Formats: sequence, structure tokens, C-alpha cells
Amino acid sequence: MSNNLLKGKRGIVFGALNDMSIAWKVAERAVEEGAIITLTNTPVACRMGTVTELAERLNAELIPADATSVEDLQQVFVRSQEVLGGKIDFVLHSIGMSPNVRKRRTYDDLDYNLLSSTLDVSAISFHKMIQVAKKQDAMAEGASIVALSYVAAQRTFYGYNDMADAKSLLESIARSFGYIYGREKGVRINTISQSPTMTTAGSGVKGFDGLLDFADKMSPLGNASAAECADYCMVLFSDLTRKVTMQNLYHDGGFSSMGMSLRAMNQYNKSFDEFKDENGNIIYG
Ligand SMILES: NC(=O)c1ccc[n+]([C@@H]2O[C@H](COP(=O)([O-])OP(=O)(O)OC[C@H]3O[C@@H](n4cnc5c(N)ncnc54)[C@H](O)[C@@H]3O)[C@@H](O)[C@H]2O)c1
Repeated sequence: MSNNLLKGKRGIVFGALNDMSIAWKVAERAVEEGAIITLTNTPVACRMGTVTELAERLNAELIPADATSVEDLQQVFVRSQEVLGGKIDFVLHSIGMSPNVRKRRTYDDLDYNLLSSTLDVSAISFHKMIQVAKKQDAMAEGASIVALSYVAAQRTFYGYNDMADAKSLLESIARSFGYIYGREKGVRINTISQSPTMTTAGSGVKGFDGLLDFADKMSPLGNASAAECADYCMVLFSDLTRKVTMQNLYHDGGFSSMGMSLRAMNQYNKSFDEFKDENGNIIYG
């Protein structure tokens, strides 16, 4: 359903890979809400083809760019302003990747070159794109920039590894640049801390199925889906949130405020079943 929340707005969406991607849903919703957009992803991801189909369907130009390359990012902002016909009103940073996780290096055995890469791709790319946009004066007055984060920035989650450090940095960049860009140009910068979501990046996390189920059982509203995350992005890109900036906004069904829920407790208790004696008494071992 469209409320024309983004009517007449121009946007750039980074990170749509396939129809499970959060950025994919955001791109679809933004166009539905009346925006015109460009899409961008790595040259490899663009060649894989799926995102080309999305670009054609949404009538959006697809600009290949490695988000760690300042030159590539400069091209994204120059070209986007050309094809969209003016300054940019909103940007989504939906990029994450840890080569340490991919190579199954544990947090106490990190490869530091790979750690640099994790931080560069997943966090510093956010700084790079904002700095490029600001130097080009590419953002419209009151524009909105959003990146996607995860609660592992604040609390420790088994298997999230060096991505936790990347997310902490990402959220810090939103605050530090949010101050400067807000003061000088009224540009808002926020992060959305999203529930675990079954996507290509998400499923790379060790024990992801268990994490997803646990979060769902803990959250009074259940996990937030990618489509619901897209809805939240629409509000943040719109003029309805003109004074919201430098925030990390939880979009997680309430998970981040929970300690223990009845559903999670029931599930936890079931794990003791195998440790009962013949009279049904739990043996804690
Ligand atoms: N899936 C989850 O559980 C979850 C939860 C909270 C936050 N997030 C965050 O949401 C964002 C989007 O991830 P997703 O879950 O939709 O998965 P996804 O795999 O669909 O998206 C990740 C994207 O990052 C892109 N990318 C990787 N390296 C890049 C580079 N060098 N330059 C440009 N793009 C690059 C990939 O091509 C891909 O499109 C990420 O920041 C992720 O950490 C995901």
C-alpha cells in the first residue's frame, strides 16, 4: 500500500543482492512510495544478474561500485544525480561482509588483514559514502541517510564474531557524522538495528537458525521481517522524521529490551528433558 511518503524524492540503495536482501525490499517499497532511485552493488553482484532484473522492473539505473573504493562511490553519487535529475534525498547503506566469518576464523583467532577488510566493507564504507556525498554537496537539505545494524554492537552474541566490532563502528560513524552533517546541512544519519533476518549475509553467521528462533521467542512482537524493515526505512526517509538523527533505532519486535520471555523459558526448560530420572525429576548434572 502506498502513502506517497517519498513522492518526488531521489534515492540511492546500496546492497540489493537477491529477493531476500533487505535492500531489495527497501528499493521496491521506495518506488512504491513514489521515489525514483538508483541501485548499486559490487561489480560481481551486478554481473550475477538478479539485481539487473530488479533494476529493470523498478526502472532504476544499476551502478556497479565497490563501496570500499572512494572513486567508485564518487561515480555513484555523480551518476545518480545525473540520472535522477538533482540532489539526493535518501541513501540506504545495506552492506555487510566478514571474510573472517567466511573463512571460519574464530574471534580469538582473527586474521588481522581480514579484520581490516570486515571493518572497511561493513563500516568504513559508510563513512566513505557520507564523506563523498558531502564533498560533492550531493545531498538535499534535510536528506536522510540510513545504515543497517545489529544488536551485537551492544551485546555479545555467539558466532557474530568481528561483525560485532564493525557494527559498533558503523553506529559510531552515524553519530559522529550525524553531528557534522546535521549542523551544516540538516542531513539526518541513523542506523536501524534489525532482527535476525534470513538473507545471504545473515545465514553466514554461525548457528544462525538457532539465533533467529531464539530472537523470535524472546521478542513480544516476534522478529521483524525484511519487508517490515523496509516499511521502517520509508518512515525514516520521509519528512515525518525530520528531527530524528544520530540514533540507533531498534527494529526488533522488542528483543533488545527483553531479559527472558515465557516462550523462551519454556523452550529452555525443554532442554532439561533428557536429564530427568525415572521419577521425572530433573537432574541438573
Ligand atoms: N540478515 C540479518 O540477520 C541482519 C540483521 C541485522 C542487520 N543486517 C544488516 O543488513 C545489511 C544487509 O544485509 P542482508 O541481510 O540484506 O544480506 P545481503 O547478503 O542480501 O546483503 C549484503 C550486501 O552487501 C553487499 N556487499 C558486500 N561487499 C560489498 C562491497 N565491497 N561493496 C558494496 N556492496 C557490498 C553484497 O553484495 C550484498 O548485496 C547488512 O549490513 C547486514 O549486516 C542483517
